[in-house]
Amino acid sequence: MSHYHIKSIAQFNQATQEAKDNPEQFWHDIALENFMWRNTWDTVVKHDLTMPSVTWFEGAQLNISENCLDRNLAERGDKTAILFEPNDPDASAEKITYKELHKRVCTFANVLKSKGIKKGDRVCLYLPMIPELAIAVLACARIGAIHSVVFAGFSATALATRIDDCACKMVITSDGSYRGAKTIDLKGIVDQALEKCNGIESVLVVKRIASEILMVPDRDFWLAPLLAQASDICEPEIMDAEDPLFVLYTSGSTGKPKGIVHTTAGYMVYAGYSFKNVFQYEEDDVYWCTADIGWITGHSYIVYGPLLNGATTVMFEGVPTYPDVGRFWEIVAKHKITQFYTAPTAIRALAKESLSLVEKHDLSSLKILGSVGEPINEEAWHWYDDHIGKNKCPIVDTWWQTENGGIMITSIPGITESIPTYATLPLPGIQPCLMDENGNEILEIKAEGRMCVKFPWPSMARTIYGNHERYKETYFASFNGKYFTGDGALRDELGNYRITGRVDDVIIVSGHNLGTAPIEDAIDQHPLVAESAVVGFPHDIKGTALYGFVTLKNEQGKDENELRNEVNDMIASEIGPIAKLEKIQFTQGLPKTRSGKIMRRILRKIAEGDSSNLGDISTLLNPEAVQDIIDNAF
Ligand code: WTA
Repeated sequence: MSHYHIKSIAQFNQATQEAKDNPEQFWHDIALENFMWRNTWDTVVKHDLTMPSVTWFEGAQLNISENCLDRNLAERGDKTAILFEPNDPDASAEKITYKELHKRVCTFANVLKSKGIKKGDRVCLYLPMIPELAIAVLACARIGAIHSVVFAGFSATALATRIDDCACKMVITSDGSYRGAKTIDLKGIVDQALEKCNGIESVLVVKRIASEILMVPDRDFWLAPLLAQASDICEPEIMDAEDPLFVLYTSGSTGKPKGIVHTTAGYMVYAGYSFKNVFQYEEDDVYWCTADIGWITGHSYIVYGPLLNGATTVMFEGVPTYPDVGRFWEIVAKHKITQFYTAPTAIRALAKESLSLVEKHDLSSLKILGSVGEPINEEAWHWYDDHIGKNKCPIVDTWWQTENGGIMITSIPGITESIPTYATLPLPGIQPCLMDENGNEILEIKAEGRMCVKFPWPSMARTIYGNHERYKETYFASFNGKYFTGDGALRDELGNYRITGRVDDVIIVSGHNLGTAPIEDAIDQHPLVAESAVVGFPHDIKGTALYGFVTLKNEQGKDENELRNEVNDMIASEIGPIAKLEKIQFTQGLPKTRSGKIMRRILRKIAEGDSSNLGDISTLLNPEAVQDIIDNAF
């Protein structure tokens, strides 16, 4: 028996040990017993983390959509696969059964084929959280096309960069999207993006808000008439284990976004295994993850992980504040949600509101609560535990990354202990370690250091699209032979991990990773800006918010608030509203080292409101700049 579903602490300990002693056997058993293969593998894993080169289940053949859909038809054909809750609370929810989902995916896949999409082609999905997004993901997987989902809050420029970087042939979008009381002109954003891109041959458009949009002849096609003509039978493309399944962009500390590449078999095995264990899914559960499919959490824990386990997965189109801030709890009560998985920023925002908005809803269906995206602070953890879980639902604080494909460190509900602010223990099969400044692994159990992973796991990213060198440089060059996460962590005497945060220039704002460099690039494009530096500072709801120090060119006499708005508009148009600055301070100059590097450490302290202990600043090129910044700080 494999350890696909861990049911006791004894089994957890045994699985952890077996996975360390004999990872090949451990993953062989899990893969063989719980998935559908057209061909099994010759080798379980081949790895050299210095190249780095990793393959899992080489020689195997499969299709992940077949595992998500066809495999569930006999037993669960009439079970709800996707439960769609629209933005409008008065509109009825849509229940899509496994049978229907299978048909809709096959039909959509035939439309993709009719527009010339073949195995290996890249398709960009820029869609709101409507069923068509999940269906498009699965339709790509069905025919072996590589999906690249771009979060539909990104700007036209950000979308264009992502379309170009992996040379997409098609974009799938909608006329617009609902966001609470507002609508967003998604198709207009796509049109703008495509003015800057070359390779797009066709755009499929889902009608969602029935707005007036421009349709470019021979390029843009409404989806509905194409679906109406297509057959609902589509044999799955047989994929090799290491064929790419998707590309998903994530911000780096420098340069353009990184197209993280995940491959088919390893990703599937780990998404299925981690979902089953972390959420202890049982047949009649109704599971809801509030993330957007534009992020990795939505890929692994709205679409693939749940469907691989025959689960009912909820997709919510709206926002937590519409029509009021009780919306999440209303949905929990309405659909009798059993597992609820959200982000600390949402918890903090909702915890600020009146408790009556929680208490008027019946939350007694809940069994397990989850958190992801950033460290969850103790206060938010207790509020979640007391008021949402009523102290009877274990909380899983799940640490992982886009690059990991699936949850790496977490407690297992009912089996291992949840500890506030600790992600706790690695899932069996994951071998994290802490490294010191000299690049050595810290062997004492109680320690603090930089977190690495020292043995490959099936769903680790294989490369950065089109740039293997950058992949190696970013993740494998800092500590020889180990995957470096970019996070710092503490480990207690029992081996529990507490993530302390990023150790690079990535800042996590409301759970979204933002690199400082792209934001600074956007600010610097303002004609009056000479240079800028962006750092994070603690924020009640966002966890961390952005503080920009901006030096203007000489000749200006503009109103400062007007300039601040212009700078933020610049950021919104280059990246998206999520990257706007909370505070903007205009400076005479930025503190620099003698080699001309901006001293972010000093700016960070000032932004945090702690300028008493800046360390030795005498070696700076321009120590006088520092006093001026302190005097004018917010
Ligand atoms: C942070 C999200 C503390 C971390 C799935 C990581 C967390 C980055 C947690 C990846 C957590 C995510 N506790 N920090 N439970 N979960 N992080 O790629 O810094 O969007 O490196 O993946 O988020 O963010 P990403």
